[in-house]
Amino acid sequence: MNKKKAVTAATLLRARQCDEKMAWLTAYDAVSAKIAEEAGVDVLLVGDSLGMVCLGFDTTLPVTLDQMTHHAAAVVRGRKTAWVVCDLPFGTYQKSPEQAFETSVHVLQETGCDAVKLEGGEPMAETICFLADRGIAVVAHIGLTPQSVKKLGGYGKRGQCRDEQQQLKNDARAVTKAGAVAMVLENIPHNLAAEITDLVGIPTVGIGAGPACDAQVLVWHDLLGLSEKNPPFAPAYANLKNIATNAIGHWIEDVRKRKFPE
Ligand code: KIV
Repeated sequence: MNKKKAVTAATLLRARQCDEKMAWLTAYDAVSAKIAEEAGVDVLLVGDSLGMVCLGFDTTLPVTLDQMTHHAAAVVRGRKTAWVVCDLPFGTYQKSPEQAFETSVHVLQETGCDAVKLEGGEPMAETICFLADRGIAVVAHIGLTPQSVKKLGGYGKRGQCRDEQQQLKNDARAVTKAGAVAMVLENIPHNLAAEITDLVGIPTVGIGAGPACDAQVLVWHDLLGLSEKNPPFAPAYANLKNIATNAIGHWIEDVRKRKFPE
């Protein structure tokens, strides 16, 4: 039997070098991990979007380390070969490289995941370097960084003006130099994402950043039509909300009509 090999950080780099597009998808439990992997997803991202799509929060800010580790451990139990990345939640890594190291060790040991992701560019470079030098695979996240929503004032596109575009290029260079193994580019102009992808030597993972990125990532609930409202750059490929509502409605009808159980 042709057994699929486990995805590693080296696989991502090789794919970029061979110009093969990779598919990342968020997952929050063992069932979603198993389904995504069976469909062929390469990387499962336990995003702190968990707070908004599963836990009912308005932003990602209230998500705790315990919540992330609880869900990431479930995703790891559900995967066989996919690479699993876990977001470091707000407030658990920004204070110092040492704080980020302690949090990352906790996440890696408690969940068995493969890499951690953190938001921020140039200002986080020292932290990324500290983690990378100590053997931790770090995915950076620049552009729209949802943990900064209170400072940014919303979830709009980043990199619209020349200064911001220059800053994002500096961010991309800084996180690459610091040793990140990949970087998420969220909600930035497509031509800027293309420029950054050319500029850096590590895989770029786009969400609302256009087709030039080495990989694409979407949120599970957006892709499957389970979100209240999708961002404009995240089309739903199914309407699972309708399918679930119809199935549950059908069952309720059978209960009321005494058709269930037979
Ligand atoms: O939290 C998350 O799901 C993310 C993706 C949107 C990239 O960071």
